[in-house]
Amino acid sequence: MNPVQWLLMVLLIFFLSRFSLSADIITQHHFIEDNNDEVIISSGKVFALGFFSPGNSRNRYVGIWYHQIPEKIVVWVANRNNPIKDNSGILRIDSLGNLSLFQRNQTVPVWSTNISIRGTRSSIARILDSGNLVLLQNDTRKVVLWQSFDHPTNTWLLSMKIGLSFRTGLNRILTSWKSPDDPGFGIYSLRMIPDGFPQLVMYKGSTPWWRSGPWTGQRWTGIPEMSKKYVINDYFVNSDDEVSYNTSVKNASIITRGVTNETGILEGLIWNHEDQRWIVFYSHPKEQCDFYGHCGPNGYCNPYRADDFECTCFPGFEPKSPEAWFIRDGTGGCVRKPSISMCGNGEGFIKFTHVKVPDTSVAHADMSMGLKQCKEKCLRNCSCMAYASAYSEINRGVGCLTWDGDLLDARIYTQTGQDLYVRVDANYLGRCPTFNSLFATNIYMQVAVLTVKTGSS
Ligand SMILES: *[C@@H]1O[C@H](CO)[C@@H](O)[C@H](O)[C@H]1NC(C)=O
Ligand SMILES: *[C@@H]1O[C@H](CO)[C@@H](O)[C@H](O)[C@H]1NC(C)=O
Ligand SMILES: *[C@@H]1O[C@H](CO)[C@@H](O)[C@H](O)[C@H]1NC(C)=O
Ligand SMILES: *[C@@H]1O[C@H](CO)[C@@H](O)[C@H](O)[C@H]1NC(C)=O
Ligand SMILES: *[C@@H]1O[C@H](CO)[C@@H](O)[C@H](O)[C@H]1NC(C)=O
Ligand SMILES: *[C@@H]1O[C@H](CO)[C@@H](O)[C@H](O)[C@H]1NC(C)=O
Ligand SMILES: *[C@@H]1O[C@H](CO)[C@@H](O)[C@H](O)[C@H]1NC(C)=O
Ligand SMILES: *[C@@H]1O[C@H](CO)[C@@H](O)[C@H](O)[C@H]1NC(C)=O
Repeated sequence: MNPVQWLLMVLLIFFLSRFSLSADIITQHHFIEDNNDEVIISSGKVFALGFFSPGNSRNRYVGIWYHQIPEKIVVWVANRNNPIKDNSGILRIDSLGNLSLFQRNQTVPVWSTNISIRGTRSSIARILDSGNLVLLQNDTRKVVLWQSFDHPTNTWLLSMKIGLSFRTGLNRILTSWKSPDDPGFGIYSLRMIPDGFPQLVMYKGSTPWWRSGPWTGQRWTGIPEMSKKYVINDYFVNSDDEVSYNTSVKNASIITRGVTNETGILEGLIWNHEDQRWIVFYSHPKEQCDFYGHCGPNGYCNPYRADDFECTCFPGFEPKSPEAWFIRDGTGGCVRKPSISMCGNGEGFIKFTHVKVPDTSVAHADMSMGLKQCKEKCLRNCSCMAYASAYSEINRGVGCLTWDGDLLDARIYTQTGQDLYVRVDANYLGRCPTFNSLFATNIYMQVAVLTVKTGSS
């Protein structure tokens, strides 16, 4: 071997060793240092993990971003609320087997996976092509000890579950960043609410802000963009063990993410490979009618109304405060009209079509009943105000939802949405001699169609 060959050999070894630094794993011996701009990259080069500074901030965080998309879109952050103020961060497997973030010469970590599993002192961390960072037991490198998908920040990726496990107590919640410069816990959070019949609810602090509505069997009622031609496969699980939702794509080349952003909007985005930009394919809340409780208890919101006040009381109700209603503030909602008999006096139901049904966290769900039995159940019980199919888009409807008490946060759509049957008194049904609920529905629908037309002209 002549000196030149020898030099090439050394260089080659050097490059190979540098190259191995950008592998997809972190071990006790192979860690990443901010100082050296080190990252690990998933095997298919989809995601990278390393140090970054958000927006105009100079603080340093450990995060995960798309490796091949020019703009650094951070989908997960480790030390959200504990930034490092300089470039001294080191992310490594500590002596106990946790993945931990240290500042140079400090023994207390800034952040750690901090899992309490005894006996496993040897683990590795790997970044996967899904964007999931997993802590694995070193021996087989298969047993997952911890994963970032169980601790989401503001972004929801394909194959990531949102929701909770009753078995483990784990609840996967998205929380907005504080600002584009600060990935700390912001005020908006999107969480699965299992009460009554499950739905996703975005909160502003502890106040409901927006509601996805329940799962219809094919999509969330409150996300009309999830039509049948949707490019994403959805999996909704509602069992004794868990209530969760995850997604996959029909075509693996699709890159998509959902973000609970700092302005309280759930954005669904898809990467457009040709134009090299993100396309927002849904964002909610979008209209006034999307904001939780916009028309108060027993009012519903119809953005297509011709006379442009979007709030209406359900039949048999009147505005609680006519003054507020007059100045187009519907949030006080509606109260029962006096002298209406709603108990065993020949009441019936009026069908509302294309509805985001009222808040299901206070509904009763009985999955063994069909719509007919559901109607009977509701009619029998004087405290029952309304009913609907639970999975309205499976077969011709599966399960029964009933509401006692106030109907909250319902709205009307033009095309999507579910059927909602609202209890009305005999007078309402009897206003026309041949008025049965079906007839009433038709009249109602004609009115609705008419207002939609004038509204959009
Ligand atoms: C992680 O650290 C905790 C102490 O903070 C320790 O009890 C646990 O065993 C460690 N986890 C692993 C996988 O070693
Ligand atoms: C910090 O650690 C570095 C090596 O990592 C060492 O050279 C330096 O002396 C240490 N500084 C202090 C103050 O201990
Ligand atoms: C690890 O968990 C323990 C107990 O829950 C907690 O006291 C400690 O602050 C945690 N450490 C880190 C670095 O998160
Ligand atoms: C992890 O496993 C690899 C081989 O699977 C082995 O070479 C290495 O020594 C192990 N590391 C530790 C810290 O046990
Ligand atoms: C998504 O949920 C379905 C139903 O529980 C499950 O079969 C599938 O494995 C989940 N996908 C992922 C990536 O967790
Ligand atoms: C997947 O998407 C790519 C890029 O848009 C397209 O070229 C390809 O034909 C698609 N594959 C399928 C099976 O639809
Ligand atoms: C939040 O999403 C909305 C809708 O896509 C967008 O207009 C807004 O700029 C986003 N806000 C931030 C802070 O990204
Ligand atoms: C009527 O509904 C109330 C409230 O859900 C419930 O407590 C009661 O048992 C129901 N009565 C009948 C006869 O189903």
